[in-house]
Amino acid sequence: AGPCDIYAAGETPCAAAHSTTRALFSAYTGSLYQIKRGSDGATTNIAPLSAGGVANAAAQDAFCASTTCTITTIFDQTGLGNHLTQAPPGGAGSGTDPNGFDNLAAADGAPATLNGQKAYGVFISPGTGYRNDATTGIAIGDTAEGIYAVFDGTHYNNRCCFDYGNAEPSNDDTGNGHMEAIYFGNGGDGGAGSGPWIQADLENGLFSRGTTASNPGLPTMSSRFVTAIIKGQPGMWEIRGGDGASGGLSTFYSGGRPGGGYNPMHKEGAIVLGIGGDNSNRAQGTFYEGAMTFGFPSDATENLVQANIVAARYAATSLTSGPAIIVGSAVSLRATTACCANRFISHQGATISNQIVNTTSTTALKLSASWTVVAGLANSGCISFLSRDTAKSYIRHFNFQLLVNADDGTQLFKEDATFCPQAGKNGQGNSLRSWSYPTHYFRHFNGILYAASNGGPQDFDATFSFNDDVSWVVSAAFA
Ligand code: AHR
Ligand code: AHR
Repeated sequence: AGPCDIYAAGETPCAAAHSTTRALFSAYTGSLYQIKRGSDGATTNIAPLSAGGVANAAAQDAFCASTTCTITTIFDQTGLGNHLTQAPPGGAGSGTDPNGFDNLAAADGAPATLNGQKAYGVFISPGTGYRNDATTGIAIGDTAEGIYAVFDGTHYNNRCCFDYGNAEPSNDDTGNGHMEAIYFGNGGDGGAGSGPWIQADLENGLFSRGTTASNPGLPTMSSRFVTAIIKGQPGMWEIRGGDGASGGLSTFYSGGRPGGGYNPMHKEGAIVLGIGGDNSNRAQGTFYEGAMTFGFPSDATENLVQANIVAARYAATSLTSGPAIIVGSAVSLRATTACCANRFISHQGATISNQIVNTTSTTALKLSASWTVVAGLANSGCISFLSRDTAKSYIRHFNFQLLVNADDGTQLFKEDATFCPQAGKNGQGNSLRSWSYPTHYFRHFNGILYAASNGGPQDFDATFSFNDDVSWVVSAAFA
């Protein structure tokens, strides 16, 4: 059985079922998600390997070989058509894609394995979001519903709002009680420790309990995989959760609705993923699977869903591909575009550019083009580049330009300075993918270094020559 077979057996069937990693019904053989590639704009759908099975990640890898791919649609597996697509602009603002839409997730940003088989989750960077404003069967008004999702407990921030659940079809904040979504991150009222926490986004508030106050019974959920549950019915609601890879669920809140417009609720039945109700889109997180139900699921039903998630055996897997770039080594990085194959990534102060460097260059120039490889500051499965001439200073992206800056100790800096080497997009060397924005790669453009996305909104995102501009031959450092 899959999670939605379990919800059906508990008489609270799924009204929406979303996953890029696996079928959520044992009989489901349809498409899980659609991807679009950068090279020619073609799309394809990814299905499970077998009925009820894990996604065919090899089909994605083949389709996206030597280019970039984004996730364009996350299909609803219930048959009700509640698919998630690129989120439109809302009351809180726009995204940077055409017509103010939010960005799409990189198709390869969140690899994992399920029972040893590779699959990809949905890696939501700030600016990324999915939505459905014309749903069928999702709870409205004060009607009961349950929501579960599996997230990455190591990928979050405190911005608004990494949500999955019920929101407004107008893309606007229409008032207290007009949302009922799972929120995951270290924003909001919170609980014990420093977060992230599972909370409810009920509109104009991220709630941990029935009042606007921290909930000391709400634990930090930092396991690699987290099962998160919010459910609500007239007059009461609950927060439940557990480790998505082992053990059972606990109930962290069960009780009344907050005052001030949240009782009765005014649910409107749209679905958001990765954004707030009004398209607040500065949050981040990773989504692997989730569903929304008709009715208020019993704890017993949810406990069986959790057992099913644990039995799927989610596990972390490698974030890198291509030639290994060894932690502890010192490297220089050579461009491979025909114009510039004698040029190396070099910095002058904060600015990073492509400079001609060779054995006859000055020691100062050689040092400016030399980097010590260290474990990724934000994720040790990836790497960071420490300058060899400027203490405690690393290559990081800022407004998607690459800079050499001193580590300021913030989580944002660590994330901005973490890159996951991939096989070079043009077949040479490596492409250096941002951990926190996996649509973005080290790219030279008019001689300056950026973290560029293929076909994105900036001039340095131009598709022309993208694969060559993002491919670097990594060798022993000049100095
Ligand atoms: O409730 C938190 C957020 O407040 C909602 O997601 C958003 O619509 C509003 O800005
Ligand atoms: O480079 C993109 C973002 O720009 C970085 O994450 C942040 O530091 C800056 O706002």
